[in-house]
Amino acid sequence: MPKLSSTRLQVNWTGSPRAPGLTVVLVGDDQASQIYVQSKVRMAERLGLHGEVERLPDDASEADLLARIAALNARDDIDGILIQLPLPAHIDALRVMAAVDPAKDVDGLHALNAGRLFHGDDALVPCTPLGCLRLIKSIRSDLTGAHAVVIGSSNIVGKPMAALLLQEQATVTQTHIHTRGISSICRQADILVSAVGKAGLVRGDWIKPQAIVIDVGTTRVEKPEGGYAVCGDVSFDEAVQVAGAITPVPRGVGPMTIACLMENTVKAAKARAARLQ
Ligand code: GUN
Repeated sequence: MPKLSSTRLQVNWTGSPRAPGLTVVLVGDDQASQIYVQSKVRMAERLGLHGEVERLPDDASEADLLARIAALNARDDIDGILIQLPLPAHIDALRVMAAVDPAKDVDGLHALNAGRLFHGDDALVPCTPLGCLRLIKSIRSDLTGAHAVVIGSSNIVGKPMAALLLQEQATVTQTHIHTRGISSICRQADILVSAVGKAGLVRGDWIKPQAIVIDVGTTRVEKPEGGYAVCGDVSFDEAVQVAGAITPVPRGVGPMTIACLMENTVKAAKARAARLQ
């Protein structure tokens, strides 16, 4: 494999070149979140970006977190800020997202970036749906008129996924766990994206032959022999018999999320450097 660190990426920052900088903020010690955060920062370093983690204890107050965000907003060497979710229940995630400088919002969760995405304007777009779109377009480059069904309506995946597919001229049906007749709606999908977090929800007979199936779900399921397995929303063994293309869980969408986070960080760094030169 080529040594990526040998071509270090730099942005010209008021005359002095430096690597784009990413800070991931982790509140608490959730094990899965710790692994995700490490993967993000390690990939940043591998690509020649500057990556760092800021940790706060589980009982940190919302005011503590907002103060950290204000300090990161003010740092010239940090271009991207990601607040790892989920946050502890006593912290209001929407207020926290609103505190991140929209120019550094590499998660695309600030209302300004979400609004820009819905207006079809240039935006920092949430990494997971952006990665899903890249996967879909690697199989089918023109989505005009395709029927895309999205299961899930979260701010981080379901809603921006639907907006991105709409922008590609797909006909989009947004569904969620309360949607009636969901299996027959899914059976009409040329493109099916599931982001619910309910292991094995989507069965083989929900899938239209040759459909593109993207599984964003990751649920930890206890194995009968002990230990845990990470399972997707889609019953993979059934769906793979019917679909034209399908992502596995794990190692399907996950690496694309990280790749798009790197892309967003470089995009934010270039935009900030251009603005401040
Ligand atoms: N937790 C799981 N996925 C994500 C993500 O893409 N962004 C953030 N901020 N938290 C997450």
